[in-house]
Amino acid sequence: MKKFIFEKSNPEWSGNDISNELDNFCDLYENRPIKNNKGGMLFQQMFSFFFLLKRLKPKLIIESGVYKGQSTWLIENTLPNSEIISLDIDLSQREYISKKAIYSSKDFRFHDFSKIPENTLVFFDDHVNHVERLIESKFFNIKNIVLEDNYLPGKGDFQTLKQLYNNYAFNHNPGILSLIKTNIFFNKIIFKKIFNKNYNVKIDIDKISKRVRDGNADVNWFENINKIIDCYYEFPPLIKYEDLKDDEFVKKPLFNSMPDKLKNYLNSSKEYNFLTYLRLN
Ligand SMILES: C[S@@+](CC[C@H](N)C(=O)[O-])C[C@H]1O[C@@H](n2cnc3c(N)ncnc32)[C@H](O)[C@@H]1O
Repeated sequence: MKKFIFEKSNPEWSGNDISNELDNFCDLYENRPIKNNKGGMLFQQMFSFFFLLKRLKPKLIIESGVYKGQSTWLIENTLPNSEIISLDIDLSQREYISKKAIYSSKDFRFHDFSKIPENTLVFFDDHVNHVERLIESKFFNIKNIVLEDNYLPGKGDFQTLKQLYNNYAFNHNPGILSLIKTNIFFNKIIFKKIFNKNYNVKIDIDKISKRVRDGNADVNWFENINKIIDCYYEFPPLIKYEDLKDDEFVKKPLFNSMPDKLKNYLNSSKEYNFLTYLRLN
């Protein structure tokens, strides 16, 4: 069963349209507030997201996964007239705090998004199972979705849509110490449940499911999700990164070699994480 790269209805832009925005983006990127954003968005992903925001111009952007705040800054500075809702279960990590974004530490699924603009876009950079996020977006009738870290089979740290398409169930290996800790948490939950009749385990069990993020995959699982997808587009890598060995899973890079103007910004060994745009029907 060969699959590799899913594609559905070409979006209204070409590779040239993307590369034509590079100069504009470099000017903006120079002013980014967080110079070392390890663990967060880097040039490659920020540029793809910048391009998409400029193209779609959503009136409201909901971002799930703020971390130090680089993506909040990017959204704010790319579309100064749009509104931003910024969600992260741990907002204490922020180094850049926007004056206009509405922050919340409640999970995306618990919000009331019944009165949002038609062209709202949600950006998921929170390492939560992509399938759950797509079902929730459909529930809220949000049509424009961006998935960060849409890794291929065997990569990443949670179940992605690209893996599901390739019928690959994500297998998380958090390490022995982490698993022992998880076991202690789990036993604590069961003890509390035995001795406290009013104790509701749900929140604590959810915390455990974040610690061991195994996914599941089935052809029907993907086909059911496929029914709600109108357009699926993986942004191509800017260059051929050295860590991208699985060629068949990766689109052709936009440039054959590193353009001079990108030498100061791009890490040629590792930067691509399959940022993907989806439009739901
Ligand atoms: C990769 S970082 C986000 C990077 C950020 N977008 C940037 O521009 O650098 C992932 C973030 O997701 C957050 N997170 C984890 N689970 C979450 C959830 N259920 N909802 C929202 N954020 C979550 C983590 O606390 C972490 O800050």
